[in-house]
Amino acid sequence: MKKFLVISAFLMLKIGAQAQQHKMSVDYVVPKDSLVRENIKEWQDVKFGLFMHWGPYSQWGVVESWSICPEDEDWTQRKGPFSDDYFKYKKAYENLQTTFNPVDFNPEKWVKAAKDAGMRYVVFTTKHHDGFSMFDTKQTDYKITDAKTPFSSNPRSNITKEVFNAFRKENFKIGAYFSKPDWHSEYYWWPYFPPKDRNVNYDPAKYPDRWQKFKDFTYNQIEELASDYGKIDILWLDGGQVRPSKKLNQDIDMAKIAGMARSHQPGLIVVDRTVAGEFENYTTPEQQVPDKPLIHPWETCMTMGNSWSYVPHDTYKPAKQLVDLLVKIVSRGGNFLLNIGPGPNGDWDPVAYERLQDIGSWIRINGECIYGSKPIAPYSTKNIFYTQSKKGTESYAVWLAETEDVHLPEQVFIALDGAKKIQKVSMLGTKVKIKWKAKDDGILLTIPAALQQGKFKYAVTFKVEHK
Ligand code: GLC
Repeated sequence: MKKFLVISAFLMLKIGAQAQQHKMSVDYVVPKDSLVRENIKEWQDVKFGLFMHWGPYSQWGVVESWSICPEDEDWTQRKGPFSDDYFKYKKAYENLQTTFNPVDFNPEKWVKAAKDAGMRYVVFTTKHHDGFSMFDTKQTDYKITDAKTPFSSNPRSNITKEVFNAFRKENFKIGAYFSKPDWHSEYYWWPYFPPKDRNVNYDPAKYPDRWQKFKDFTYNQIEELASDYGKIDILWLDGGQVRPSKKLNQDIDMAKIAGMARSHQPGLIVVDRTVAGEFENYTTPEQQVPDKPLIHPWETCMTMGNSWSYVPHDTYKPAKQLVDLLVKIVSRGGNFLLNIGPGPNGDWDPVAYERLQDIGSWIRINGECIYGSKPIAPYSTKNIFYTQSKKGTESYAVWLAETEDVHLPEQVFIALDGAKKIQKVSMLGTKVKIKWKAKDDGILLTIPAALQQGKFKYAVTFKVEHK
């Protein structure tokens, strides 16, 4: 019996150093549940989302979680106090709980900025690998709402709930990032042994009772999120090492977790990232864009700055680069999940707001080629990237400028089917007429002088309407 339709997608992706551990999935399994398939389709239409990595680590401005991981990689190096002593450092790191007080937390401000930028979904770190819960869990006191955390006395202390509610109110799709590994839990890093690396620090096969406790702990936390935080669309599970395996088997029983989560959240998209199979409903190339369209649902997650977590004076990518990325990703059928790390006081760097504003000005003119679009061959030619409307009656050629300001040549050749009956060719954001001529292999546009040195920024979109 053919249970699932398995599509093999061999991805030849360049994977950065940090991402190397997260091997790209090669097999995509189409979900059996039609509600999940529908939700994925809806999610694929919204294209642009906000990712946020936030926790007490933002007070030191260090990498999220990784500095307590005893692996010697460039992103795990310790920079805070006691950095020359692992155990003292870990203690000090965990102690950040007792000073975390982001009094400027105001999720409505983020919603407004994200919405104006054209973002339509959000994924928030409810718990990262360090195990600090940014929600009011009952499974541990290492959490934002515990009396030891100063912010617990704030009426908005259940940060995850506040973030989800604020974004949901503006019709964002809601994603819960949740790390399966938990470097604070005694059931994952048993204090009897020192931690060795990112993995569980004992053999679950040898200590099945302890592992069972970890499974229960994880299940219970996810059940809290799935049942007490309103409608959730995506469960974004990180920490792909927690999976069934012949060596150091960290089977957490995803079927049980997903079944439970979907009993509370029908149609929930589960992203058991890098694990592949039934519970990785879309793939998540990290800090990179696949160079061709992929045949299954996917999303590039990427930092706006250099880091996922807040780093003071981080360098943020220019808006032009972010718009280019969005266009490239969408032309290859993907979604763009762009990360901003909130700082210790509960707000973003002002530069992040500027970037979102600039993206918004572009998207208000050009959004039509983005939302609800599909890829269309040849996907790109030189600096031009193509999309089409769902019905296929409109196609778009997005011409990415080399500089901030768009300077168009007198003629632009777009490789869209000139043989189709063309009704009209126009440029988004202007009523100025564009002359065109259908050729065998495309359409030749003559750009009026008024548009060549226009007021446009980053990229312009030519729209072709077919019969
Ligand atoms: C990287 C980082 C991890 C982060 C993730 C987001 O894997 O190591 O901390 O949460 O990217 O995709």
